[in-house]
Amino acid sequence: MSNPSLLILAGDGIGPEVMEQVKRIIGWYGDKRDLTFDVFEDLVGGAAYDAHGVPLHDDTMAKAQKVDAVLLGAVGGPAYDDLDFSVKPERGLLRLRKEMDLFANLRPAQCFDALADFSSLKKDIVAGLDIMIVRELTSGVYFGEPRGIHVEDNMRVGINTQRYTEAEIERAARSAFELARRRNNKVCSMEKANVMESGILWRDVVNEVHQADYADVELSHMYADNGAMQLVRAPKQFDVILTDNLFGDILSDCAAMLTGSLGMLPSASLGLPMANGRPKAMYEPVHGSAPDIAGQGKANPIACILSFAMALRYSFDEGAEADRLEAAIEKVLADGARTGDLMGPEGGTPISTTEMGDVILEALDASL
Ligand code: IPM
Ligand code: MG
Repeated sequence: MSNPSLLILAGDGIGPEVMEQVKRIIGWYGDKRDLTFDVFEDLVGGAAYDAHGVPLHDDTMAKAQKVDAVLLGAVGGPAYDDLDFSVKPERGLLRLRKEMDLFANLRPAQCFDALADFSSLKKDIVAGLDIMIVRELTSGVYFGEPRGIHVEDNMRVGINTQRYTEAEIERAARSAFELARRRNNKVCSMEKANVMESGILWRDVVNEVHQADYADVELSHMYADNGAMQLVRAPKQFDVILTDNLFGDILSDCAAMLTGSLGMLPSASLGLPMANGRPKAMYEPVHGSAPDIAGQGKANPIACILSFAMALRYSFDEGAEADRLEAAIEKVLADGARTGDLMGPEGGTPISTTEMGDVILEALDASL
């Protein structure tokens, strides 16, 4: 049997430096757990634009289709703000999502005990929080046609289209129900069925899938604006939240902030099973490229490392090893390891990106 393969696309800003720590963790699994990956690396985003004039080269796209999983750092930065829309760094990321057909974006929002004080909400509202947002990732207003800017009666008009087919809603809903069964068995679906036909269809299809195959899962529906409000008011009422591409983009940032730091949150984007049974998959931290701190060794590598933990769990069926990595991170946080973004009210001296990698590797060693 050949080793499982990974394509690392570190990207821009803090992407390369946080990914450096992930590479050390991957190396650790090869050395200490006999879990060796064949690792390939390539460019995405602004880095790809600088080298090739496009945010994702066709060869890179082809490699992404072949490997067992893609690990992505971050894309974008001020140097690329004025580029034409078609070659902006974000287009590279969206192309990967679309062409790999990664329709189910899993964004956990978990509050680490050691960080409950860091949330902008009161500690008792977020302590123990553990929710999972399932965001549809390959359709909706991000990709719907018609789109563009044109002139009508001497006036510019901007157009984007929210469009969902039954099949697209159904497969996202199935992912959410399947996940819920492995968690607390509850799904709350969010749309705007009060103002959008696509929302009415969304609600109908979710109900149909539920009745047909997942009646054992507790299902509720919310308008997305109320959902945003409930997330801030009482986030622990949720287990799995199922929502579309645009609402999911917004609600997941909101959920992320509940946990105290965007630098902590991983994500998995999953598609259909490949010939080897593994799902098409890409893993990336929810945080962006953070150009303001890039290249200074200040970035928190935890979200990127937790994204690799999700890869262990969802691509490689190594749930126990994912648990081990997550426990190591919980341990270092409980012991007080803090990058700059985790400097709470009590202050202290932040450690560097590499030092965070060091202590996580020590905790992994200690777990053996
Ligand atoms: C995200 C990001 C992306 C999105 C951007 C970078 C295109 O905000 O992954 O949430 O809007 O989906
Ligand atoms: Mg976003």
